[in-house]
Amino acid sequence: MLINKLALNNFRNFSKKHFEFGKGVNVIVGPNAIGKTNILESIYLLSTGKSFKARLEEEMIDYNSDIARIVGEVGHRLVEHSGLERSKKQKEAEELQKTKLETILTRGEIQIGEDPENIQKAPRKKMLVNGLPKRLIDFSGILKVALFGPWDLDLVTESPSIRRKFLDSVLSQVDREYRRASLSYEKGLRQRNRLLWRIREEGLSRSQLLFWNQLLIKNGDYISRKRAEFIDFVNESPDFLDQDFSLEYDSSAISEGRLMQYKDEEVAAATTLVGPHRDDFIFKLKNAKNANAKNGDRDLSKYGSRGEQRMGVLWVKLAELNYIEKSTGERPVLLLDDIFSELDHEHRAVVSELAKAQQTIITTADEHYVKGIKSGNEIIMLG
Ligand SMILES: Nc1ncnc2c1ncn2[C@@H]1O[C@H](COP(=O)(O)OP(=O)(O)O)[C@@H](O)[C@H]1O
Ligand SMILES: [Mg+2]
Repeated sequence: MLINKLALNNFRNFSKKHFEFGKGVNVIVGPNAIGKTNILESIYLLSTGKSFKARLEEEMIDYNSDIARIVGEVGHRLVEHSGLERSKKQKEAEELQKTKLETILTRGEIQIGEDPENIQKAPRKKMLVNGLPKRLIDFSGILKVALFGPWDLDLVTESPSIRRKFLDSVLSQVDREYRRASLSYEKGLRQRNRLLWRIREEGLSRSQLLFWNQLLIKNGDYISRKRAEFIDFVNESPDFLDQDFSLEYDSSAISEGRLMQYKDEEVAAATTLVGPHRDDFIFKLKNAKNANAKNGDRDLSKYGSRGEQRMGVLWVKLAELNYIEKSTGERPVLLLDDIFSELDHEHRAVVSELAKAQQTIITTADEHYVKGIKSGNEIIMLG
C-alpha cells in the first residue's frame, strides 16, 4: 500500500500545498506548529473518513475558508505471502493501479461567487473515489494506515472508550461488514435507549424493545467476535524487547439472557447496560523477575513505568500493522507523529527498523532523531 501524492486545499493551515511521497521512509521535518500533525491527519482522513483529533470535522477547514479539499493518490501492491501466485507482469500491473481518494469538507453552507449574500447549503462532508461519490462505508479502508503518536499512551492509561475506538479503527479498516455492523449497532442503541426512556417515563410496553434487541444482538455478536479475533491475534504476536505483554479482553456480551438479567436496571437507567459499547481490554505485563509468582501479570496501567507503557502500545501497534496486512493482503502505510523525542536510544532503534518494513511517513521537529534510518530517506522540509 502506498500513498504517492497528497494535495491539500484550505485544510487546517495549508491553503494550497502538494506533497509527493517515496516508497520507503519519508521524513517530514519542521518546527512546532508548522502543520506536521495536520498532514498526517489529512492522510488519516483519506483512510478512515474521520479525524483522529478534531471534535467537529469543520475544525479541519482553514479558518479563513468555508471549504476544504483533500486529494490523495494511492497505489496498491499485494504483499508476497497473501496466498496469491502472481507473475512479474501482474505485480507490475498492481503497482500501476492507482486510486484517487478525495474528501471535501464544508461548514454546511458555501458562498457562491464574490457576493457574500449568495450563500448556498452544502453537504458537510463528501467523499469520492476516482471522482465518484461514495458513502463512508465504501470510502474508508481503501487506503490502509496505522498511526502512532504520543497520545497513544492514552490507550493504556485512559478510559475504555479510547480502547473501543482503537478496536473500531483497526477493524473498520479491514472489514466492511464490521463497518456496517458498527453503524447499525450505534443507531439501534440510540433507538433502544430512547425507548427505555419512554418505558420509564411514559409506561410504554417492553414489547417495543423486541425488534431492537434482535438487531443489537445480531450486530453486537459480530462486533464482539471480531474484537476477540483481533485481540487473540495481538496476543499471539511475538514478545517485544524481552517484555512479555498481553491483552485481556473484558467483553460485555449481549444476548437475550443478559438483557433479561438487567431488564429492570436498564429501564431505571434508561440506557442499555450490556453489549460491546461497554467493552474494554486491559494491558498486562508478565513479571519477568517473578514469573512463577501468583498473579505474576501486572496491570500495565497501574504498575507499568511510562517506558513500559510506551512499549506496550508499540507492541500493539506493530500487531496492528501485521493484522491489517494479514486480513487485507496489503501492508498499511505507517504514520509516526513526533514519537522519537519520547523514546530512548534502544527503542528508537526498534522503531527505525520497523519504519523500513513498509512505506512510512515520520514527522519530527529534530532531524537528527531519524539519522538512524539511512536507507534512501525522503526528506520533506517545512518552514
Ligand atoms: N482550521 C485551521 N485553520 C488554520 N490553521 C489551523 C487550523 N487548525 C489548526 N491550525 C494551525 O495549525 C498549526 C498546528 O499544526 P500542527 O500540525 O499541530 O503542527 P506541528 O505538528 O507541526 O507542531 C497551528 O499553528 C494552528 O493554529
Ligand atoms: Mg505535531
